[in-house]
Amino acid sequence: MESGILILNTLAEPLRWLGACALALMLLAGCGDKPDAAVEAFLERHWADPLPPQGTPPAAFSPLEASLNPEACGQCHADQYAAWRTTLHSKAMGPGLRWQLMLMNQDQGNRCLRCHAPLAEQKALLALELGWPNAPKPPPPDFVPADLGHGGLVCAACHVRGHQRFGPPPRGEVAEGGPHGGFTVAKAFEDSRFCAHCHQFPDDGPRIAGKLQEDTYQQWLASDYAREGSGKQTCQSCHMPDRKHLWRGIHDPEMTRRAVDVTLSIEPAGDGRYEALARVKNSGAGHHFPTYMVPKVELVFYRRDADGGSQELGRHIIGWQIDTQITREIADTRIPAGETREFRQPFVAPDGGWRVELVMRVLPGEHYERIYRDSLSRAGQLPPAAVPLLRKALDEVESAHYELLRIEAAAGS
Ligand code: HEC
Ligand code: HEC
Ligand code: HEC
Ligand code: HEC
Ligand code: HEC
Repeated sequence: MESGILILNTLAEPLRWLGACALALMLLAGCGDKPDAAVEAFLERHWADPLPPQGTPPAAFSPLEASLNPEACGQCHADQYAAWRTTLHSKAMGPGLRWQLMLMNQDQGNRCLRCHAPLAEQKALLALELGWPNAPKPPPPDFVPADLGHGGLVCAACHVRGHQRFGPPPRGEVAEGGPHGGFTVAKAFEDSRFCAHCHQFPDDGPRIAGKLQEDTYQQWLASDYAREGSGKQTCQSCHMPDRKHLWRGIHDPEMTRRAVDVTLSIEPAGDGRYEALARVKNSGAGHHFPTYMVPKVELVFYRRDADGGSQELGRHIIGWQIDTQITREIADTRIPAGETREFRQPFVAPDGGWRVELVMRVLPGEHYERIYRDSLSRAGQLPPAAVPLLRKALDEVESAHYELLRIEAAAGS
């Protein structure tokens, strides 16, 4: 998620268009007597780092069946394609990542691509585009569309290995002899660990103040949602309800409103002094609210007077605040799943005739805003081609701000 993260990658990564298709991938998951171990074993192969190239497509495949293009999948899987196109997974190669890649060598860049564009074919295309030394000779084979590198987390990144389709247990009857040689069932698709490959750093990953920079799966595991029983909710059940490929998160006002319950009250403290008290409960996110250092939620208290006058009383932040060098914690006010945090705002006011209003605003990419502004102030030191991308990235994060909610309270309420 951050520039400067270090994930050990000891082997130089050979980039080829066609490689021997790994036989281990053909082993079925979910057939042993220890389903948990089977899920782990499947995920280790499925998310091998780096992923091997798909190899030569089976001779029986039509060009449509062989294509890694998400649009090709969409010809038959129209619902998944329509939903996926609206998500950040399809935009994971946005300008915010691309300007940074221009400052990196191939090894550093591939560490980012492991999560942002993980297929070997994507890395090969991006290596050609960025002029990195280890790139196979163009042109790519027919099943690799020219813009696959910019596709981000494409369908095939989650579903296709060695030209074979992998998916969750089917919900209905599946006809024999279907397209793309059928598919292999893996229960791992229904398991939160499927998402952990990219939404959780390993234990030896980078930490600040002792906390892993990316820790969503562990936060979930520690929450009540991870317990077996009727209250269990997986990453998929909240983020892919009814298997819809939606992945809404903190960029989406409706999804984020589901995460919190907020109350506001005012307590008199004598001598015309008062305290506004906002209690924010993380009632709907299956991990900290918010889970990463990147987003911030701002609470602004106002006094609204009967005569129309208005005064800002103070601001508070929910989030994990880190300096732009990513070395130091400034504050951590994230709210773990199920927990409540109180925000107190003292103020003075005359007797009656006013109300307090609390406005909550979301800045989904706040940490990047600071980094991008810092970098723009030193634009002269950047490769010229990176600067327009950096500007675009800053525009995008700034325009993602939105108001989450506003509530009011009168004295004595
Ligand atoms: C372990 C997986 C992983 C790795 C490795 C990774 N990222 Fe990310 N990245 C994420 C996730 C998950 C998000 C979304 C959550 C967020 O915004 O923090 C993200 C979001 C981002 C964003 C904000 C979205 C955007 O497109 O503007 C940028 C920029 C970014 N990453 C850059 C990088 C860079 C640069 C690297 C390599 C130094 C990198 N990432 C490595 C998982 C990863
Ligand atoms: C020519 C049509 C066609 C194309 C192209 C196609 N599929 Fe399929 N796919 C099907 C059919 C039919 C099934 C059988 C299940 C069904 O009826 O939905 C299926 C099954 C699947 C499944 C298993 C669903 C489950 O229940 O677990 C996955 C995953 C899948 N396809 C992914 C893909 C991906 C990814 C692509 C593109 C790289 C793709 N498919 C391209 C027609 C197609
Ligand atoms: C980030 C990984 C990821 C990406 C990207 C992705 N999928 Fe999926 N897909 C999943 C998971 C996980 C499930 C199972 C969800 C569950 O069981 O709740 C799934 C389920 C499916 C199914 C079975 C649906 C059903 O109703 O039974 C199909 C078909 C499918 N995906 C096709 C696609 C296509 C086509 C694309 C691209 C447009 C795509 N997927 C992109 C992870 C992904
Ligand atoms: C191969 C890596 C990868 C896998 C696997 C993956 N993600 Fe992501 N996810 C990302 C990256 C990278 C981003 C950020 C994209 C961007 O903004 O540039 C992201 C973004 C998201 C977001 C949007 C966050 C926001 O800020 O609004 C949600 C929600 C999400 N992922 C949920 C999931 C779930 C649930 C799964 C498992 C079914 C999953 N992801 C699997 C890499 C991955
Ligand atoms: C009980 C429902 C629920 C579960 C379970 C859940 N989430 Fe979320 N998630 C949410 C809600 C609601 C939001 C929006 C508020 C927020 O950002 O915390 C969210 C936000 C996110 C974001 C946006 C970034 C951010 O900083 O908050 C990512 C990424 C994400 N979830 C990934 C995951 C992954 C991965 C899992 C499984 C380990 C998971 N979620 C489990 C409900 C859930």
